[in-house]
Amino acid sequence: MATIGLLLNFLVVPFFLSTFVFGYSPNEVKQWCSQTPNPQPCEYFLSNNSNPTYQAQSINQKSDFLKISLQLARDRALIEHANILSLGSECRNQLERVAWNDCVELYELTIHKLNKILDPKTKYTQFDVQTWLSAALTNLETCKDGFNELGVQDNLLPLIMSNNVTELLSNTLALNSNNGGESHLHQESSYHHYKDGFPTWVKQSDRKLLQASSPVSEANVVVAKDGSGKYTTVTAAINDVPKNGSESFEGYQDTLYVHAHKQFYRECDIYGTVDFIFGDASAVFQNCNIYARNPPNKTNTITAQGRTNLNQTSGIIIDNCVVTSAPDLKAAVPGSVKTYLGRPWKEYSRTVFINSFLDSLIDPACWSEWNNSDFALNTLYYGEYMNKGPGSSTANRVNWSGYHVITNETEALQFSVGNFIDGNSWLPSTHVPFNITI
Ligand SMILES: *[C@@H]1O[C@H](CO)[C@@H](O)[C@H](O)[C@H]1NC(C)=O
Ligand SMILES: *[C@@H]1O[C@H](CO)[C@@H](O)[C@H](O)[C@H]1NC(C)=O
Ligand SMILES: *[C@@H]1O[C@H](CO)[C@@H](O)[C@H](O)[C@H]1NC(C)=O
Ligand SMILES: *[C@@H]1O[C@H](CO)[C@@H](O)[C@H](O)[C@H]1NC(C)=O
Ligand SMILES: *[C@@H]1O[C@H](CO)[C@@H](O)[C@H](O)[C@H]1NC(C)=O
Ligand SMILES: *[C@@H]1O[C@H](CO)[C@@H](O)[C@H](O)[C@H]1NC(C)=O
Ligand SMILES: *[C@@H]1O[C@H](CO)[C@@H](O)[C@H](O)[C@H]1NC(C)=O
Ligand SMILES: *[C@@H]1O[C@H](CO)[C@@H](O)[C@H](O)[C@H]1NC(C)=O
Repeated sequence: MATIGLLLNFLVVPFFLSTFVFGYSPNEVKQWCSQTPNPQPCEYFLSNNSNPTYQAQSINQKSDFLKISLQLARDRALIEHANILSLGSECRNQLERVAWNDCVELYELTIHKLNKILDPKTKYTQFDVQTWLSAALTNLETCKDGFNELGVQDNLLPLIMSNNVTELLSNTLALNSNNGGESHLHQESSYHHYKDGFPTWVKQSDRKLLQASSPVSEANVVVAKDGSGKYTTVTAAINDVPKNGSESFEGYQDTLYVHAHKQFYRECDIYGTVDFIFGDASAVFQNCNIYARNPPNKTNTITAQGRTNLNQTSGIIIDNCVVTSAPDLKAAVPGSVKTYLGRPWKEYSRTVFINSFLDSLIDPACWSEWNNSDFALNTLYYGEYMNKGPGSSTANRVNWSGYHVITNETEALQFSVGNFIDGNSWLPSTHVPFNITI
């Protein structure tokens, strides 16, 4: 039987790829779903009351199941998008309307990402897919954050978030994360297709998007002091971003919102107080100057990274930067202000400081809790590798299990520009200088 199946596949598939299908059984689906972090919605939607197009497909290997899981996430996101649209008339005020409108757009971005992955014409690497899925998930979280931050979470939000799209996306992230890069979604896809220095998947319209500035942009970002990085997609959260290239981000709370996707900052000056570099992108800051200011409530937190899922590619990497006091903080009463490198905005917050100069302003504990609670202390990942300067001693650091003094170069290398944001595949074409390794 197995031999015949194999033979049939061999003979038939090349000729009837899209029409000859075997379909899957409920037991098969149960078995595959059990390998995901959220088996219940997986089974629920793929077995009984599901769209017959999934059931018509056979699952011979993991990539088949990943494809069905992606289709399912996309279809549920489409249904949820329609649901959100239909709720528009229920907005009671302008704030709700703003949050609602963002959610409509954020779901569109998520659907767009999933369609792009499912499009047989798209070329990508397994790493690209993981980055896009990470961003797709971040969009849903940002939708929720909008209602919470505007203080209007009681009316529409419960109706919007009680779908299973987040769980279904987590499943795709888990399935793709150990896909090992060996099986592809599309036979014709292969690794590293790049043309004219751009990955071939960057369409003309997306190149335009790369230059846009939007609060929910999904584009890769390059920012450099000399202006050579012309893609300065940052966000509404940044006030007064210079439009002509000399990149300095000056603010107090929440200065620089690194929302999603791959981002690279080189030789930038960043000023702020509370959570001044925050968000859920895969962001590397290289050769930057980070200046903490004198804050009203006497506590600074330089980063607040917002990863919500262990399998997301996101994190904030501070590489070969200088962290010091802005003039107003230098002038403050010594010891009156505590400055921390970061605090966990979300459950899987991930931030690493590498080869950086940490001035004496850094508190010996170095990392701060979120709102004095034990939130995320075991799930976050905070690391320090080969930093120098009076604030760099790790002797009195926090003792959380998620905190790591990294001494192993191999471990640190996963946070290099080459590995963390796949820099070689997209930075050369921007002509921004970068160090590929740490
Ligand atoms: C979400 O999935 C669960 C099964 O895990 C199901 O009972 C529930 O009805 C689903 N919710 C929606 C809105 O489809
Ligand atoms: C599917 O339907 C069968 C029979 O109607 C039922 O026993 C089973 O619980 C259902 N499974 C799900 C995931 O809804
Ligand atoms: C992450 O992916 C792994 C498989 O690669 C899976 O076992 C794990 O449950 C996933 N974690 C989450 C939080 O989804
Ligand atoms: C760039 O910004 C600087 C300072 O704001 C200004 O003086 C200069 O004229 C700007 N250059 C261009 C080309 O817009
Ligand atoms: C400092 O004040 C800001 C609001 O201005 C607040 O968001 C932040 O959590 C405060 N930080 C601490 C550590 O209390
Ligand atoms: C901080 O914790 C207090 C007490 O648990 C709570 O009332 C408050 O809402 C929390 N604030 C934030 C921003 O999480
Ligand atoms: C970690 O440090 C805190 C105080 O900073 C202390 O109360 C706690 O016992 C320590 N935990 C461990 C496991 O050492
Ligand atoms: C460093 O980490 C790598 C990968 O985790 C491991 O194989 C290697 O043995 C480690 N080296 C040292 C010196 O601990």
